[in-house]
Amino acid sequence: MEKRKLGRYEILAELGKGAMGVVYRALDPMLGRTVAVKTINMALEQDEMAEYEARFHQEAKAAGGLNHPNIVTIYDIGKSGNVAYMAMELLEGDELRSLVAPGKPLPVALAIDIAAQIAEGLGYAHEHDIVHRDVKPANIMIVRGELVKIMDFGIARMRSTNVRTQTGVVLGSPKYMSPEQVVGKRAEARSDIFSLGVILYEMVTGKTPFTGEDVSSIMFQILNFAPPPPSTLNPEAPEMLDFITAKALAKSPADRYADAREMARDLRECRGRRGAAGPAVTTRPPRPAQTGFDPQPATGLLADPSPSTRRSDAEPDTVEIVPALGLSKAFDSLDATLRLAAQTGMAQEMQDLARATGTRTGGSPVAGRERAFRVTSGPGWSPRDKLIFTAGVIGAAILGAVIVFA
Ligand SMILES: Nc1ncnc2c1ncn2[C@@H]1O[C@H](COP(=O)(O)OP(=O)(O)OP(=O)(O)O)[C@@H](O)[C@H]1O
Ligand SMILES: [Mg+2]
Repeated sequence: MEKRKLGRYEILAELGKGAMGVVYRALDPMLGRTVAVKTINMALEQDEMAEYEARFHQEAKAAGGLNHPNIVTIYDIGKSGNVAYMAMELLEGDELRSLVAPGKPLPVALAIDIAAQIAEGLGYAHEHDIVHRDVKPANIMIVRGELVKIMDFGIARMRSTNVRTQTGVVLGSPKYMSPEQVVGKRAEARSDIFSLGVILYEMVTGKTPFTGEDVSSIMFQILNFAPPPPSTLNPEAPEMLDFITAKALAKSPADRYADAREMARDLRECRGRRGAAGPAVTTRPPRPAQTGFDPQPATGLLADPSPSTRRSDAEPDTVEIVPALGLSKAFDSLDATLRLAAQTGMAQEMQDLARATGTRTGGSPVAGRERAFRVTSGPGWSPRDKLIFTAGVIGAAILGAVIVFA
């Protein structure tokens, strides 16, 4: 029987199906090695095809330039009829998606380690001006039970053209999307950090932070809901992790980690402290966020115009340098917790706690700073709040419809 081929690659078996095509195990006869070949269905009109191909090459070239242990290596790209393909490193392992089951958190140390490796891979890619845009457990492979590989850099951008999805394949839920992506803004590096925050939260608690019956209610939660701190759902989770998660999940990109590598460093320190002396913090500081809805966080996102150029992916229009945490030099869990508390809007509560326990905390460098996780629970909303709330719901519903029916 004649071997099925894609370019020079001989198809051996199907590894799985995604929204854009099939991924095969294939043989590269030139180098005598087995690879994974991802196909992208391009059943497009003639004029759309040229534009799509150009974008495919641009994205594949960018992703192909990445060389990092936590990122899958791209070997080659090509086209065969209406099918574009990408040959890459064949990963033998488990998708993170299959490891995180509802109600079954991963061991905290493993969850932190996986998140730190994802953060390192993202940090490297961001340094090279590449934003992933679709960080989710289905795009993370765990090899030999410990090594993280991020897959599908740039694929989300290829998907955002009019490319038809495989018949019968339902596009994934928006559970890992950042608020700015929900309102239709272009993703930036800190959008990937938000998605990583969602993954970290899910690994540690066994529960995704934003849930709902349908796409629009999940999107509404992403814009307005502050999830409970992980330690309230998993007593094994140290408080430090509450602050790290809150900082990654801040509604406004400016309040998140400015650099994924900073997040990786905090995660490593958090893990190191646990390994060395059990739980990092023994006295419970106040929680970094209360659960609830806040109409405020979405305000800026809905009001700001969307950046429209590729340049803006790497250079977000609102760049606020968040002071480096620098926890690795002389880590002090109280100082670190205070710093993170300040950056996640809990400075006052921490000051109160410090006063109560007689600890000196110094000044409050972020007094008056906008609180990423503040929850407005006062009675009644103003007409402006209601307007924002309604705009959020309508926007989320339209986007939901676009995602499901596009
Ligand atoms: N390099 C690889 N090595 C081994 N398996 C892979 C590789 N790349 C993808 N796969 C597997 O192929 C399957 C399909 O992947 P694909 O990326 O197309 O879809 P997805 O990530 O599940 O969904 P989406 O289309 O939303 O990205 C998945 O099960 C994935 O784990
Ligand atoms: Mg994928």
